[in-house]
Amino acid sequence: LKVASVEKLVQQKPYCIWFTGLSGAGKTTLAVQLKHRLQVAGLPVYHLDGDKLRDGINQDLGFSVVDRTENIRRISEIARLMMDAGLIVLVSCISPYRTDRHNARQLFDTGQFIEIYVNTPLAECERRDVKGLYAKARRGEITEFTAIDSPYEPPRSPEMQFNTTNQSVQECVELILSSVFTK
Ligand SMILES: Nc1ncnc2c1ncn2[C@@H]1O[C@H](COP(=O)(O)OP(=O)(O)OP(=O)(O)O)[C@@H](O)[C@H]1O
Ligand SMILES: [Mg+2]
Repeated sequence: LKVASVEKLVQQKPYCIWFTGLSGAGKTTLAVQLKHRLQVAGLPVYHLDGDKLRDGINQDLGFSVVDRTENIRRISEIARLMMDAGLIVLVSCISPYRTDRHNARQLFDTGQFIEIYVNTPLAECERRDVKGLYAKARRGEITEFTAIDSPYEPPRSPEMQFNTTNQSVQECVELILSSVFTK
């Protein structure tokens, strides 16, 4: 490692950037693009995506209130460990309950937990129906689906929020970069 890059790593202030919002709101899309931009800038970053974790470490969990809470507890603890290891951690998961997100925030120091509300209206998420899950939920083929038959509690004071109906992916990512990383 060159001295300059070591200094960059040492000076790097780690963050947990937490994307919350409905299914299809754009959490994964934004996290993936942000990750790419940070990597190009030479910063150490890891993306924890709810879906991937449900395939692995959280495969024992379903979508009841208790299981959703445990899902978020594990993800936030993992995010904290990764941040302690020096990484910028990007989390994308629906995280529908205010209390669960609040508990996640408590694991971090002030200013290190950035909550981003991907505030895309249900109608737009349902129109996109990226995974075909809204159609299934409306037909009753799946239950406990967020915003259909399971609640979503919007953040009251997120650090940032976007409505991706009229804001492009690039626009959102640039806004995050300028507000979080150019201080
Ligand atoms: N500004 C934007 N930001 C993010 N996604 C956008 C934006 N504008 C349009 N989209 C589109 O919205 C869709 C969002 O899907 P994505 O899988 O990212 O949602 P998600 O919030 O991760 O959902 P889930 O909770 O089901 O994983 C993508 O098809 C993406 O291209
Ligand atoms: Mg996703």
